[in-house]
Order: sequence, then structure tokens, then C-alpha cells
Amino acid sequence: MDEVPLRGTHHVELWVGNAKQAAYYYRKAFGFSQIAYSGLETGNRENTSYVLEQGKIKLVLTTPLSSNNRITNHLRKHGDGVRDIAFHVDDVESCFKTVVENGAEPLAGPHELVGEHGIVAKATIKTYGDVVHSFICDENYDGVFIPGFREDSETEYSFGFKFIDHIVGNVEKGQMNHWAGFYADVLGFTQLIHFTDKDISTKYSALMSKVMQNSNKYIKFPINEPADGLNKSQIQEFLDYYGGPGSQHIALLTDDIVHTCTQMRNAGVEFLEIPDAYYDVLKERVGDIEEDIEILRQLGILVDRAGEGYLLQLFTKPVQDRPTLFYEIIQRKGSDGFGQGNFQALFDSIEHEQGLRGNL
Ligand code: FE2
Repeated sequence: MDEVPLRGTHHVELWVGNAKQAAYYYRKAFGFSQIAYSGLETGNRENTSYVLEQGKIKLVLTTPLSSNNRITNHLRKHGDGVRDIAFHVDDVESCFKTVVENGAEPLAGPHELVGEHGIVAKATIKTYGDVVHSFICDENYDGVFIPGFREDSETEYSFGFKFIDHIVGNVEKGQMNHWAGFYADVLGFTQLIHFTDKDISTKYSALMSKVMQNSNKYIKFPINEPADGLNKSQIQEFLDYYGGPGSQHIALLTDDIVHTCTQMRNAGVEFLEIPDAYYDVLKERVGDIEEDIEILRQLGILVDRAGEGYLLQLFTKPVQDRPTLFYEIIQRKGSDGFGQGNFQALFDSIEHEQGLRGNL
């Protein structure tokens, strides 16, 4: 029996230095629509938040309004980053009770947020680093987002993103098993894949990863830790600049990656560059695919065949000045993998960037 039934991801909240400008970036560069706002005008004296939506994805961008604020301390330590990966549940109380019994560290017990459009129940626990998981039930609420937010109706548009495919956590060396165990023991997740440093290593940089998923498979959390290489692991670079563990990348699923990436490139989003040689041997490596390889080459889209089909993916450069959080754009055509066949090309590219930053 599923002890902690999670319907899926309710939203992801990022704490950022300038939410107004970040919201503009995610609207113009990622195709999100701004649907809700909370700030001084809504009686929120602590912080300003913008809710952005695309498909089933909701991103909340929050910035503090004073220096005497817990969010300010988080920003000083981490820079911009993921604070809350919130789960959509039917029963906040029973989920919270179970996860705490299972060993979760509580941050906020079950409570109700009340507004003119109804009630939302919420509780929050801690996970790796300063990242938290909220449990949210909004079945008795018919307003926009949650109480405390007003509707912000911007003309709706979209680059084609449907939902969050997975969110990767980077933890310290030796901590991967602990946090994979946390998701298994506390939240009832199962292990989907285990990549060792044999699978994921380049000349310099190495990592290990375990992919954990919930029972309905809507939530997937790969957990990475740095492994020994000749030089600094890309995971260690993240940990150094983020000031500890945190969410490394959010993978957003689209069903038309060529369209989505064309829009993003036109909007100026920077992606990891893939050497031309990758495409010269692509057909040989993955066989027949529906897409035109020349177009994939122009857009820098990677392909990997695994399981029943193949997947297409590419990765942005970090979306803030610290080399920390970035995004993956992914389209699945019958493959439930994570692009293992692309690790070598990708990490060569990541290491090239790391070298330019003087961190290799
Ligand atoms: Fe990924």
C-alpha cells in the first residue's frame, strides 16, 4: 500500500534576488504565463511572489522585501535557487503524520490557508540542504494558486512545455545513499536506476547518481554525489558555489522539442554547446529517428535510445551567475531513460564550461 500517496508536483518555488526580473525571464525565455501575484498590494509585507504556469508546471518566484528576512539569509548563502518542491496530495494531515513517523524533519505542521475562494491545507518537511517539500491539498479552493495571491491575467502563451519530468538534487560526497534512502524510507519512493562513476565519468569529472521515483511515477528525483576524478567534479563545483546541497536541474518535458528550443533560442536562452562530431555519428549510434539530424545539429539537441524508444534532450547553461541551477528540455519518444548515451558528450561540454570558469 502507498503510505504517502502523492498525486504529483504541485509547484516549485525558487527564492531569487529579483523576482520581478526573474518572472520576466521565465515568461519571455521559457514561454511561461504569469497567473498570480502576492506582494505589498495584496497585504504581503514580507515578500513578493509571482506564479508562472505552463502546461501542468507551476513555478513560484519569491524575493524578500527586507534584509531582516529568512529568505535574505538563504539568498546570501545560496544565491538564486530552488526552495520548495511541493507535492499535490489529497490528505495533508495523514501524509505529514506518516512522513514524520518515517523520520522526516518537520518544518511546518499541517495548517490552513484561508481566503475568499476557499481553504488550502499545507505542511512542510525538510530534505537535502535547505530544500523543503510542502504537501498541499487545494481541493477546497477555487481561486488562483493559493490564498494570499491575486489573479494576474497576462495573455496566455506557451513554448509547449507540459510537465516536470524530473528534478535532480546534488548532495555531498558520501551522502547519495542517505538521501536516496530518505526518499525510500520517508516517502515510499523506489529506485529506478543507479549510475555508478563507471557509467558517468570523464577524464576529470565524475559523479554517481540514484534515480528515485514515487509510486505513480509522476515524480522522479535523481540524487547525485561527486565521485573522484582527476580534477573537480561538476557536482563539487555546484556544492562549492551553492554553499551546500541543492537542486541542480529541473527537466521540463515538451512534446515538440524542435519547436520549444527554436522559441527558446530565439529568445536568447544559452544552451550547452555540443561538438559537431556528435552529429556525424548520431545515426550510427541511435538508428532511425523521426527528426531531421541537420535541424537537431543546428539546435544542439541530443538523442539517446534506451528502453522501448528514444529521447531528445538538451541543457541550458546555468540561469544565474553562480554555476548552479540549470534546466533540461526533454522529449520522450518511448524511452524512460535519462540520456546515459549522452553523458560523455555532455560532460565534455560541461567541463569545457567549467574550465572557462577556472574551476577545473
Ligand atoms: Fe536530467
